[in-house]
Amino acid sequence: RRRMVGGGALSGKHVIVTAGPTHEPIDPVRYIANRSSGRQGFEIAGALAAIGAEVTLVAGPVALPTPAGVRRVDVETALEMAEAVEQALPADAAVMVAAVADWRAEPSATKIKKGGDGAPPPLRLVENPDILAGLAAAKKRPGLVVGFAAETNDVLDHATAKRARKGCDWIVANDVSGDVMGGSDNTVHLVTDAGVESWERLPKPMVAARLAQRIAEALGGLKT
Ligand code: CTP
Ligand code: CA
Repeated sequence: RRRMVGGGALSGKHVIVTAGPTHEPIDPVRYIANRSSGRQGFEIAGALAAIGAEVTLVAGPVALPTPAGVRRVDVETALEMAEAVEQALPADAAVMVAAVADWRAEPSATKIKKGGDGAPPPLRLVENPDILAGLAAAKKRPGLVVGFAAETNDVLDHATAKRARKGCDWIVANDVSGDVMGGSDNTVHLVTDAGVESWERLPKPMVAARLAQRIAEALGGLKT
């Protein structure tokens, strides 16, 4: 485990970050996934490490370099991500940025063939566990649990409802009706028990730095 020489606002704190999509196999050559570049989550992991946190980044399949000073655990499916998060506990805070696939298939061991009768094969889907909600209800719950909500419409209503439903402390709501996905900027709203704080459109590294700072302030106020 790394040591920060000279401290930093999050020195001595362990933060878990999930990022990227998950891939849920259908057969050996096909999968279901959400659209996610992983960039915002990786930026957040890097920004937390930059101010001294010990960061465990649980990453779905993405083509991104590991940020400096971050311990990275690569996973593919939602079930693997849930397991890796559990293994990473205890933590002082968790930031769940991953675009977790809501459903998984019962994968076929062999490649599904097109067949000749014209009917496409049915996909039987099973709901994945909610990693964020599970963590927020866990015995070893981190003191600060932050979720993300990517929404295309009624962003604040959905985000506020999601915060309550999942039992997390903060939701970072993200309007993805434009070209945020894979883009370099992000427009977010921070939903806390104190209400909604809307941030101006910022480059993803600046969203990350500001969020890391807010997390440091919140943890500084907690007795751990
Ligand atoms: N999340 C999670 N595990 C899941 C689904 C979501 O940890 N199986 C987390 C995401 O990482 C994010 C938050 O929950 O921090 C919100 O994800 P989102 O997909 O917006 O929430 P859902 O409850 O799946 O709602 P929706 O029907 O809008 O997809
Ligand atoms: Ca979802």
